[in-house]
Amino acid sequence: MNAIKAVVFDLYGTLYDVHSVRTLCDRIYRGQGELVSKMWRQKQLEYTWMRTLMDQYKDFEAATLDALRYTCGSLGLALNADIETQLCNEYLRLNPFPDVPAALLQLRAAGLKTAILSNGSRHSVRTVVGNSGLQGSFDYLISVDEIKLFKPHPKVYQLAIDIMKLDKSEILFVSSNSWDATGAKYFGYPVCWINRGGTVFDELGVSPDIVTSDVGMLAARFSQVEQ
Ligand code: LAC
Repeated sequence: MNAIKAVVFDLYGTLYDVHSVRTLCDRIYRGQGELVSKMWRQKQLEYTWMRTLMDQYKDFEAATLDALRYTCGSLGLALNADIETQLCNEYLRLNPFPDVPAALLQLRAAGLKTAILSNGSRHSVRTVVGNSGLQGSFDYLISVDEIKLFKPHPKVYQLAIDIMKLDKSEILFVSSNSWDATGAKYFGYPVCWINRGGTVFDELGVSPDIVTSDVGMLAARFSQVEQ
């Protein structure tokens, strides 16, 4: 922990609750909000991975729209241009998890740089962070748009090093998505997995260095180191 100079976060699911969209989904598709939100997120991720494998990059907002269309098609739910706009805009207004704002302050007070490294487009990342009022809490907002590949491709993890001019060993990579934590670990970062859902870690051959239930618990560890 003493070597760590910066904490780099995943955005969706780690700092911001992707299932904030459930309420609007439920208002539009009564009783199906949770199902829509879950399938939508899963498909969105699959599309980013498939597009990277196929070398067919379209940004995260496009993946989000395509995944919404697939989800509604597969569940037999009506979708028109107005609903598409409403629901996709909701993805730009995600709520930060309650522990996040104070944890970011605490990490910065402990002398650490903070950043986001996200599969989100430049516009998505800036808008989600701006809408939540947390833009002052990050030193860097890094989007995969820079290289048009999605995590867990190793070149994405390299991007943080290139931009922040730090060594791998000086960056703690933090994600609640175990596939992302796995990619970061294989790349060579020290990794913290935020196990928000009380789930099990992926069986892909590596384990995180730290596991906490939320970002607040992680920040508390750094504050203890400082004292
Ligand atoms: C992120 C998503 C994919 O990179 O969780 O922020």
